[in-house]
Amino acid sequence: MLDTPLKHLAIIMDGNGRWAKKRGLNRTKGHDAGAETIRTITTYCAEHSSIETVTFYAFSTENWKRPKLEVEFLMKLLDKYLQKELPTYQKNGVRFQAIGDIEAFSKPLQARIQKTQERTQHNQNLTQILALNYGARAEIVSAVNHLIAKGKMAITQEDISTHLQTPYSDIDLLIRTSGEERISNFLLWQLSYSELAFTPTLWPDFTTKELATIIENFSQRHRRFGGL
Ligand code: FPP
Repeated sequence: MLDTPLKHLAIIMDGNGRWAKKRGLNRTKGHDAGAETIRTITTYCAEHSSIETVTFYAFSTENWKRPKLEVEFLMKLLDKYLQKELPTYQKNGVRFQAIGDIEAFSKPLQARIQKTQERTQHNQNLTQILALNYGARAEIVSAVNHLIAKGKMAITQEDISTHLQTPYSDIDLLIRTSGEERISNFLLWQLSYSELAFTPTLWPDFTTKELATIIENFSQRHRRFGGL
């Protein structure tokens, strides 16, 4: 029996570019392949009963610094992904949610995101969160500013937790692919007690088999949350 079941899994998907380079392909091919991996892993999570939420870091506030063509490609890919994914979300009972500042995106892409959120809002099997134009420090500052606007004079941890875009949902396990071992401004508050797993596998090569192994290792860990 697990100390704590795996309810919220978060993933930093890294290595699309290197995956493409290794094959002599354009980086965009790596992102295409990466989008397929999101599909496969989400379906696996929907079938894995204890997982309630899976959060993917899809576009960070830093990703705007990439070449314009790559950014444009990623925006188009996101739009295509959401359009293609809708029937699967419905079939698998997946609720889609975005976190991050999507107002920086084009109006049609914002509309696609809103529509996908609305259409899937009653699905209950799994919540898939895509972090889009997301940065954790900005999320925390925004929560604090909301509290100030409400006239709060003293702020508790509970206040911040409930004003984040991912309302009070601590992460149980964070996976980062491609061998990098950094958090990169992802869900800083929610990761406070998370278990961390780093794998050298590049994101497009990440499989459900490897995920199952990581989850199995996670289930052997005794999470003490600061206690004994
Ligand atoms: C990192 O690879 C990946 C990202 C930029 C974020 C994840 C994006 C995708 C999986 C593309 C599809 C997304 C959606 C939501 C449809 P990298 O380019 O940083 O790889 P590198 O470090 O090897 O260059």
